[in-house]
Amino acid sequence: MRHLMPVHATHTPQLATKEKLVARLLFWFAAHARDLPWRRTSDPYAVWVSEIMLQQTQVKTVIPYWNRWMRKLPTIQSAAKASPAKLHKLWEGLGYYTRVRNLQKAARQMLAQHDGKFPENFAAVLALPGIGRYTAGAICSIAFDQPTPILDGNVIRVLTRLYGITTNPRAQKTNSRLWQLAGELVHHASRITHHVTGSRSIARAAGSKGADDPIRLMAIDHRRSPQPILGNCSALNQSLMELGALLCTPRSPDCAGCPVNQLCVARKQNLQEKLPKLAKPSKTTARRFIAFVVERNGRLLVRQRPAGTLNGHLWEFPNLETPAGATPRQLARTFFGRAPTKLEPLATLKHSITRYRITLEAFRAELPNAHPQPDGKWLTRGQLHKLAFTSAHKKILARIGAPSIVSARPIGRH
Ligand code: ADE
Repeated sequence: MRHLMPVHATHTPQLATKEKLVARLLFWFAAHARDLPWRRTSDPYAVWVSEIMLQQTQVKTVIPYWNRWMRKLPTIQSAAKASPAKLHKLWEGLGYYTRVRNLQKAARQMLAQHDGKFPENFAAVLALPGIGRYTAGAICSIAFDQPTPILDGNVIRVLTRLYGITTNPRAQKTNSRLWQLAGELVHHASRITHHVTGSRSIARAAGSKGADDPIRLMAIDHRRSPQPILGNCSALNQSLMELGALLCTPRSPDCAGCPVNQLCVARKQNLQEKLPKLAKPSKTTARRFIAFVVERNGRLLVRQRPAGTLNGHLWEFPNLETPAGATPRQLARTFFGRAPTKLEPLATLKHSITRYRITLEAFRAELPNAHPQPDGKWLTRGQLHKLAFTSAHKKILARIGAPSIVSARPIGRH
């Protein structure tokens, strides 16, 4: 006998767990998604920029950077043509600057190979510099609503808990399984034929009972909101990210508020705080640096870090790592070739880069006839504020005062 009724995930009375999961996630996302600026567009360029910025960086930090970037460089063409100084200034403070250099390389590749357009094919997106499996999946799902999975730290946390996966999610076998699960979920989302915000059948499938059901009402609110209605693949992937960011947090997850708590294996076994089972972080190493703030006739001595080094292209005050036991005075003498006539502490800054816990001590130094280092420049405060500084050295810059109003000379060697 032929089936006369189409078999739809959303119309099946006894829904399989994955289908329930997907429906509940979509509903929850429709009601609770944060109104983030990059969620108001499906321009793949804008989505791409947001995804690159969001690697290693929190949403609240990224928002002003993304807004400014989109104002200054609104198209692939503008990103491809921007000067390195402009790119680095727009990225200043976000760290991991290889990201922004790759972004420009990829934009140039789009001009050369894709007629200046963002490619829609997953393999072509993945082939672009700086775009890995996660980012390609995020762009293709969010911008093009393709059923391409994503797996990042948040999604790993959500899935290992939901499925009660107790092995290390970074180990190859477990990692493949997680990609597979993420793929199945987004694939299920792609088979739902209605957008969640307009579908009563999905409301029923998700477990919603009546007209006053909060899930459905929130979905209706969302439809009225100025945000665009997202495709289901886009929404499903973002629901996983969002659940990990808002409820399924590393510590004290809000299981009571979770839309899929009844389907969560970790919760049933009270393992939610123990998963994911990550490998122990590597040991940290303490490192100490001394920086010198030298001023002459209203100009400060700075240098640009060479390309190819950590924080390459960015600016900083002259500094060096201190060998054990060396005093700042001895270091200044070695560094500048003459003893400082004055050396006073200005600031002590602590920050971390990968496994290094860095202490940076900045001193104001007065030196008789200080010469710039080979790569050094004497610049006014006004000029310095136009350059991209490393985060730690930008804090030093903040401590030594605002730019003077009369600082109109162009940047260059003096
Ligand atoms: N983290 C990574 N991608 C994200 C996105 N599109 N929205 C919020 N957080 C994210």
